[in-house]
Amino acid sequence: MKTRLLTVSDISKIIDMADVLKAVETAFREYGLGQAEMPPKIYLDLRQYNGDFRAMPAFVENSAGLKWVSVYPDNPDKGLPTVMAMLILNDPKTGFPLAIMDATRITSFRTGAAGGVAAKYLARPDSNTLGLVGAGAQAKTQLLALLENFELSSIHVWSLRDDEIEGFKNNFKDLPIEKASLEEAAGCDIVCTTTPARGFIVKKEWIKPGAHINAIGADAPGKQELDPQILNEAKVVVDDIAQARHSGEINVAIKEGLFPVNDIYATLGEIVAGKKAGRVDDEITVFDSTGLAIQDIATARMLFEKAKQNNIGHDFDVVG
Ligand SMILES: NC(=O)c1ccc[n+]([C@@H]2O[C@H](COP(=O)([O-])OP(=O)(O)OC[C@H]3O[C@@H](n4cnc5c(N)ncnc54)[C@H](O)[C@@H]3O)[C@@H](O)[C@H]2O)c1
Repeated sequence: MKTRLLTVSDISKIIDMADVLKAVETAFREYGLGQAEMPPKIYLDLRQYNGDFRAMPAFVENSAGLKWVSVYPDNPDKGLPTVMAMLILNDPKTGFPLAIMDATRITSFRTGAAGGVAAKYLARPDSNTLGLVGAGAQAKTQLLALLENFELSSIHVWSLRDDEIEGFKNNFKDLPIEKASLEEAAGCDIVCTTTPARGFIVKKEWIKPGAHINAIGADAPGKQELDPQILNEAKVVVDDIAQARHSGEINVAIKEGLFPVNDIYATLGEIVAGKKAGRVDDEITVFDSTGLAIQDIATARMLFEKAKQNNIGHDFDVVG
């Protein structure tokens, strides 16, 4: 038996948002039904380099594996992405490593897909304006995922850097993308926050009734993008309660005593599995995403099967 190596260019050839959305929705459903295993992620915090690593193991849908991912917010100035990742996919029956693969693209796509699944269940179906707070890698895949389920008539993008907005427009030439103020972006039907901010940048008074917010950027202790008053008024759905308390959008508000943990309405898995209802009327909904290993492993398994069908990648004797 051999282990398949899938490089970033292999993954780029076969990754597609519609497929990732399906894999991630199934992973959330399995998790909501209690059929997946996922110990909490482990952080290796290297503050002296302004970065951190996370080890993320999971078992879902007959696949086991581990993602090893770094987050270095100063990297774009050094010509490197903020987030870089590798993944080992194993056969759960024997432990054999089926594949070793680039997971940087998987991370962006599965994060976009989590936002897409959350919006499918929590946003108003007639939502047609999108606000993107931040214009980096995660903002792009949030947009790709939302395009699968929503007719977007205008997309309002805010960034600290004008060159990023120009790059964003060039990537999506056919879409109605406009440079926006923070207030304009936050005032849309669906709002995705995708910055590494440490201190809230989105104010309560900018959010309109019936809006859905994907809070993506906060995925480590101390990170925060939303005014805690938004959390107090909204129906707050998290990807995982332990991870969200530790490192999600709610982590700072909880530590400051501004958001009681009991106010979390549900996990996204519970909603996808039909255990709890999604949106009601014109409430504000917030999806607090920290990123789950089940999303990575389900996506990696789908890509491994696709690579085999299309003869993509190279096989090696790595173990044994
Ligand atoms: N929830 C998840 O599953 C998940 C997954 C991957 C990444 N993330 C997080 O999402 C965030 C963005 O990741 P990315 O890969 O898109 O990074 P990126 O560097 O590609 O983009 C970050 C964006 O935020 C802007 N920005 C940087 N610092 C800012 C600040 N202090 N205030 C406001 N804007 C700021 C940048 O100009 C850019 O537009 C990071 O915090 C990352 O850790 C979350």
